Amino acid sequence: MVKVAIMGHGTVGSGVYEVFAMNAEKIARVAEQPVEVKYVLDLRDFSHLPYADKFVSDFSIIENDPEVTVVAEVMGGTGAAYEFTKRCLNAGKSVCTSNKELVATHGEELLAIAKEKNVNYLFEASVGGGIPVIRPMMQCLAANEIREIRGILNGTTNYILSEMIHKGVSFEDALKQAQANGYAEKDPTADIEGHDACRKICILSDLAFGDKFDPNAVSCEGISKITLTDVEEAGKLGYVIKLIGRAVRCEDGTAYAYVAPHLIPKNHPLAAVEDVFNAIMIDGNATGDVMFYGKGAGKLATASAVVADMLDAIAHAEKRRPVEWGDGSKNLLRPIDTLESVWYSRKPGKPAVITGPMTTERAMRDCKDAAALMRVL
Ligand code: HSE
Repeated sequence: MVKVAIMGHGTVGSGVYEVFAMNAEKIARVAEQPVEVKYVLDLRDFSHLPYADKFVSDFSIIENDPEVTVVAEVMGGTGAAYEFTKRCLNAGKSVCTSNKELVATHGEELLAIAKEKNVNYLFEASVGGGIPVIRPMMQCLAANEIREIRGILNGTTNYILSEMIHKGVSFEDALKQAQANGYAEKDPTADIEGHDACRKICILSDLAFGDKFDPNAVSCEGISKITLTDVEEAGKLGYVIKLIGRAVRCEDGTAYAYVAPHLIPKNHPLAAVEDVFNAIMIDGNATGDVMFYGKGAGKLATASAVVADMLDAIAHAEKRRPVEWGDGSKNLLRPIDTLESVWYSRKPGKPAVITGPMTTERAMRDCKDAAALMRVL
């Protein structure tokens, strides 16, 4: 019998408990022994739940229980989640998380502690929710130099854009629906302004290029300025608008990384990715493009990836998964100004046009009176 704990009982945390309960037999088969959730950490009152006896509000109960060897951190944020993760790792417990903010901000430090303590810090659920992408990238694509990553990395904004494009629904109504479905962050600004997608492209870049890409340094633009006019104009030109996280490796090993809305040709595979679905295209120098697709947000889809990581941590209790990246001192991030793109530009009262290719710096200068300016993929 393996004993595990779940820190946080929000959308994902309750989903993790549900997956353990729903698939107990299958999970025991994979782990080659039963897995019991011994504790759920949360300060709120869950006394109405049938598993109310599992709840604790004092983290040190988990930290000091040697029976608990694997912990899910599904609290979110970089406050208590950061401290508790460090303390779990230092106590010799593996930690599995969906917390992209924490992985993007402090991943290198937490991975270094995990290495020192010979335990695992796993984060498959931090990018693409239920889509397997971190492990395939680390293992199946390990023989490739990654040339480019292009992804629809945020379910909330993709849902909002899909509703705007296909149903003419207003931005506000679509956001309310995404919140009701449990896709959005607690503060949906992180979704709408692209910060969530930015953290995810940073994690993928960290893994692909081996050094930290700081979310605070990566150029990030969300979808709050997208209007139904641009959705229609883009449609007339043969494109759809999607929020894309992108990383492009240059020959000297540096890379561009950024998040911005893009026009995507209607026949491009990413154009067909609708609603809460995410997709990530990874271009390896041996494989060419490979694409990962599935539900990028939501309770059970994300919980599925967390529980799979917990099973992997159980299987690798003796021999940890080697994963690490540098502290950012290689300065791999290229300034976005020099990135060349084709552009969509719309001046007030005029039909939109496609121009370029030209650098970001030149586009900003030449089109400064534009009502809308977006890259074309
Ligand atoms: N708010 C995130 C999204 C949740 O909408 O994609 C999954 O990371």
